[in-house]
Amino acid sequence: MPKHTLTTESGAPVADNQNSAAAGVGGPLLLQDQHLLEKLARFNRERIPERVVHARGSGAYGHFEVTDDVTGYTRAAFLDTIGKRTEVFARFSTVADSLGGADAVRDPRGFAVKFYTSEGNYDLVGNNTPVFFIKDPIKFPDFIHSQKRDPFTGKQEPDNVWDFWAHTPEATHQVTWLMGDRGIPASYRHMNGYGSHTYQWTNTAGQAFFVKYHFKTNQGIRCLSSEQAAQLAGTDPNSHQTDLLQAIERGVHPSWTLYVQIMPAADADGYRFNPFDLTKVWPHTDYPLQRVGRLVLDRNPDNVFAEVEQAAFSPNNFVPGIGPSPDKMLQGRLFAYADAHRYRLGVNHTHLPVNAPKATDVHNYGRDGLMALNKAGRAKNYEPNSYDGPVQTGQPLSAPLTVTGHTGTHPAPEHTKDDDFYQAGELYRLMSEDEKHRLTANIAGGLAQVSRDDVIEKNLAHFHAADPDYGKRVEQAVRELRDN
Ligand code: HEM
Repeated sequence: MPKHTLTTESGAPVADNQNSAAAGVGGPLLLQDQHLLEKLARFNRERIPERVVHARGSGAYGHFEVTDDVTGYTRAAFLDTIGKRTEVFARFSTVADSLGGADAVRDPRGFAVKFYTSEGNYDLVGNNTPVFFIKDPIKFPDFIHSQKRDPFTGKQEPDNVWDFWAHTPEATHQVTWLMGDRGIPASYRHMNGYGSHTYQWTNTAGQAFFVKYHFKTNQGIRCLSSEQAAQLAGTDPNSHQTDLLQAIERGVHPSWTLYVQIMPAADADGYRFNPFDLTKVWPHTDYPLQRVGRLVLDRNPDNVFAEVEQAAFSPNNFVPGIGPSPDKMLQGRLFAYADAHRYRLGVNHTHLPVNAPKATDVHNYGRDGLMALNKAGRAKNYEPNSYDGPVQTGQPLSAPLTVTGHTGTHPAPEHTKDDDFYQAGELYRLMSEDEKHRLTANIAGGLAQVSRDDVIEKNLAHFHAADPDYGKRVEQAVRELRDN
């Protein structure tokens, strides 16, 4: 027996949900059929703008538990006690395709975690790759345009993808990563996550450290070959969603161990790589991994739209003890996300349950706007005031950075070992013969489709510069494909 009567949006009972009201049998329909009008009108409004990147994704709830003492480095309350648990929501995503795209594609994966801490929400919005294609945010819209659909052909174009990379030597490291074995994860559970950027941690004594985050999957890394992925993308375009959803429903809860690399702030200037360059890693021999805790996902959202599509992660949601570094890409992202949320979800998106803090309350003077809920009762909406309204702490969230020089559109500062190719070559040289073969074949498969020789040549020059053997193999494979 159904428990409830079907109602309209205003709660009135619906008499007929099978037949529209008509002017006589076989006659035209009546404007007074409120249920029909409401149903069609709501349907027209079901979609909101999809994310301009990372449109397609899957999310789940869980917790983060501290396993090791990091209080010497940060005063963040959610990391201050071994055994402390913090509720989290995570969203994983592909980057380039639209909401309806397939999961099993060669593309970085987003790895975004919202920690609902007692000092406010902390969002760590990372990827499954430790580096990125560019090092200045001013290039981001051009980069993404080159990877998404062409405005004329309406489809992704190898010409555009490789033309952008031809002009972007700093992408060589990430291209090597993407075209290698880890370029197509088998599922969201079987991949690592990285904060990628350098962030700043500050301890209770006010000492600053630079930090990189690494979430290592406890399910083991599993990846797909290009051929396996092509088949899976056709047979189950939702393969990542299916895998994550079903694992959690079965009670198989995926987990990741969080490690950090910690650099004392005083090391940054003299380090052989620019520690704020997102196209570079810090070798673990320089800054070893230190364990912090465990991320576990154990609950699926009940409604994908409300909780996953409307989830809003922003790299500028910091908590005391954690802050930004001068990484230019990170600085650009500090603006881009909340702006996207105001466009995509509206100014009151932080009121939605998935985005609202869960372990603390919000007290501020922001009011009104589209779809406002009043959470402030009758309190004043200005400050300072004489009515015991909320006041500032006077304590900066993170330590100050020393800056020198003149304003200007400067290129990133170069440290002694900085060039666009060295670390790409290091990654290549770490690979087995088989991996090198698959990597160079994958690159050649894409590059050989490019229509202009000069674009191909520019790209080949990057692989040659990374490692002569790397360049030679890609060049040979491209020639073979183009001669056939
Ligand atoms: C300047 C460079 C970048 C800009 C301007 C940028 C901008 C954006 C924008 C506008 C969105 C959509 C947000 C939304 O509508 O909710 C987004 C999503 C995302 N970006 Fe970036 N992005 C940049 C670089 C990066 C990097 C380097 C990473 C990883 C290290 C990253 C990871 C993500 C993730 C994981 C999402 C999806 C978040 C979610 O699940 O809702 N982005 N980005």
